[in-house]
Amino acid sequence: MTEPGDVLVRALTPADLPALERMEIDLFEAAAWSPESLASEISGPGRWYVGTVVGGELVGYAGLWFDGYDAQVMTIGTDERFQGRGLGRRMLDNLLDRARSLGAAVVLLEVRVDNDPAIHLYESAGFERLGMRRAYYQPGNIDAWTMRLDLRGQEEPA
Ligand SMILES: CC(C)(COP(=O)(O)OP(=O)(O)OC[C@H]1O[C@@H](n2cnc3c(N)ncnc32)[C@H](O)[C@@H]1OP(=O)(O)O)[C@@H](O)C(=O)NCCC(=O)NCCS
Repeated sequence: MTEPGDVLVRALTPADLPALERMEIDLFEAAAWSPESLASEISGPGRWYVGTVVGGELVGYAGLWFDGYDAQVMTIGTDERFQGRGLGRRMLDNLLDRARSLGAAVVLLEVRVDNDPAIHLYESAGFERLGMRRAYYQPGNIDAWTMRLDLRGQEEPA
C-alpha cells in the first residue's frame, strides 16, 4: 500500500499517456513532443521510461535510450508544482542505474544552454560538457550543450 504522500518511481505504461501529454506541453511548450511521439517513445525498442507518482498522481517522467553501446537521456521533466524536491535527481539516478545494468559505456544528452536547473542537475551527477550544437532546439534556434557521463570503470551499485 502507498500512503498519500508517498513517492514512487515506476515504469511508464500507455495508461500514463494523457498525464504525460499534459506535462509535456506545460514543461516544453512549443518544443513539446507530439502525443504520437510520446506514445512511440515510451514503448519503443531500447527505451526505458519511468514516471514519478506522488499521492497517486504522475508528476514527473524521464527516459533513456540504449543502442547496444551508449545510452542517451531522451528527456526528463518534473511538474512545476513538484520541482526542487529531489524528484528530478531521483529519476536521473534511476536512468543511470539502468544504463549501468545494461552495460552502457557512456551516457549522452543534449540540454539547452539556457537551462540552468537541468545543467546543474546533470553536472552534479557527473556529466561533463562535450561540445555545442548550434541552433539545435526549434523554435528559436537555441543552442544545446552535448554532455557525457563515462560509466566505464564505475561499479554497478550493489
Ligand atoms: C530539470 C528538472 C527536470 C529538474 O527537476 P527537479 O525535480 O526540480 O530536480 P531536483 O529537485 O532533483 O533538483 C535537481 C537540482 O537542480 C537544482 N534546481 C532545481 N530548480 C532549480 C532552479 N530553478 N535553478 C537552479 N537550480 C535548480 C536543484 O537545486 C537541485 O540541485 P541540488 O540538489 O544540488 O540542490 C526540472 O527543472 C524540469 O522539469 N524542467 C523543465 C523540463 C526540462 O527542462 N527538462 C530538461 C530537458 S534537458
